Amino acid sequence: MAADDRIRHPGLAARVMQAEAAATLIEPGASVGMSGFTAAGYPKAVPQALAHRLAALHAAGQADARISLWTGASTAPELDGALAQAQGISLRLPYQSDPTCRKQINEGRMLYTDIHLSHVPQLARYGSLGPLDWAVIEVVGILPDGRLIPSTSVGNNKTWLDLAKRVILEVNLAQSPALEGLHDIQTGSDLPPHRQPIPLTHPADRIGEPYLQCDPDKVAAVVITHQRDRHGAFDPPNATSSAIAGHLVEFLRHEVAQQRLPADLLPLQSGVGNTANAVMAALVKAPFTNLTAFTEVLQDGMLDLLDAGKLQFVSAAALSLSAERARAFIGRLDHYRKQVVLRPQGISNHPELIRRLGVIAMNAMIEADLYGNVNSTHIMGTRIMNGIGGSGDFARNAFLSIFMSPSTAKDGAISCIVPMVSHHDHTEHDVQVIVTEQGLADLRGLAPTQRAALVIERCAHPAYRDRLRDYLARARKEGGQHTPHLLGEALGWHANYVRSGKM
Ligand code: COA
Repeated sequence: MAADDRIRHPGLAARVMQAEAAATLIEPGASVGMSGFTAAGYPKAVPQALAHRLAALHAAGQADARISLWTGASTAPELDGALAQAQGISLRLPYQSDPTCRKQINEGRMLYTDIHLSHVPQLARYGSLGPLDWAVIEVVGILPDGRLIPSTSVGNNKTWLDLAKRVILEVNLAQSPALEGLHDIQTGSDLPPHRQPIPLTHPADRIGEPYLQCDPDKVAAVVITHQRDRHGAFDPPNATSSAIAGHLVEFLRHEVAQQRLPADLLPLQSGVGNTANAVMAALVKAPFTNLTAFTEVLQDGMLDLLDAGKLQFVSAAALSLSAERARAFIGRLDHYRKQVVLRPQGISNHPELIRRLGVIAMNAMIEADLYGNVNSTHIMGTRIMNGIGGSGDFARNAFLSIFMSPSTAKDGAISCIVPMVSHHDHTEHDVQVIVTEQGLADLRGLAPTQRAALVIERCAHPAYRDRLRDYLARARKEGGQHTPHLLGEALGWHANYVRSGKM
């Protein structure tokens, strides 16, 4: 399809320019809201051109040629990677998973504000994040009246388009025009005291319109691109992830048998990463049918469930598929469009909706402690991995809040079950179930010492159980109290790893 067919608003067609020219409009020091939620729907040309420009300014002696970068969630090498390699990001929010960003954040060269994904649009609208100078948004096309056909993710695009002083649109001709109609963008005010209940009672409900809106007068440039999303691959399921999935399926069957869950379960949410993806894939063989999902990302595992006829409907904020599965999905969009909707992350992650729908939240973690506190973000308490993403939105508000990981990391050198988490993302009050390949601990209704015993016996790797049992016994004897701890020793547990150089 030609660019003329994609840019049907005459005024905006007149603003087409090269990415390099558009990038010169963005002044160093600007705050820039870009599209992108995982490696889907992110702008490809302007960030790279901007990275070149900022690098050139650095080379010319301009010390602080950097921008503040806001997105939906993580993006891809053409965006986060390119700008970070150019030393072009002063502050990043709200979630990232790029190796160069991660390094610079941990070295203190890039500031990082890790925010619950559902909080970002409202914090931005409240003005708490400061002014937004630019929005750079990938779209599939522009309608004659200026409305925009969203791309493979929605994320914070509506918020950025509403708030930014100026806008650059990337019209990506490589994105299929068949994406039109897949999205549901809620319009209207969402600021208190005028906030209204969100009229969504089933994952398949549509409450908005399929297009983004933007005042054409704000659009400073339109850039045509031809590059596909750079989809990452998932690790194939292995014995560990299959065992985690097996425990989870058994638990869900038990909950159905106890009549605490309906036979077709409740809407599923599945977190990011290999473990979460593998667990979804394993549900294909489970005896549950007629499932729905109210989640952030549609990953390969969930597509397997759709293809198997087990999953009826997915509500998400982005298509986070591997390259092969993305091609297959887009190729059969007419089939899938009855079963998938993409929404803004203010809706996909909204606490009101997660609580109302009774979502079963299944997120991966870095480590859990004996009492059920969970660390999703920091290796050894100090080194950021990615960020909290939407895990907190779901964990606190879900009907069932489940966290999972292998029982050990780094070939068994590190136990993922520890006396005290080295960083708190999800407190014991938000975590109901912990699963490793060893087993599953259902912590609902248990007191701290009951939780601790269960977590050790069910979830810890056998190689670490004696140490953890010994810790708990001594903590009960020497410290006692409601939540027994030997504080120096709990933190020493991590310090020993740090000293060993195994992390
Ligand atoms: N100590 C040290 N390193 C650890 C560790 C621990 N306790 N647990 C995991 N790791 C390391 C792994 O060794 C691996 O390192 P590598 O990249 O060098 O190989 C890395 O962390 C990722 O581990 P992996 O088991 O492959 O995890 P994953 O792909 O399933 O991702 C999270 C797990 C926690 C990093 C990921 O789910 C995440 O970022 N979560 C937070 C956001 C979130 O939950 N979003 C979803 C909400 S919708």
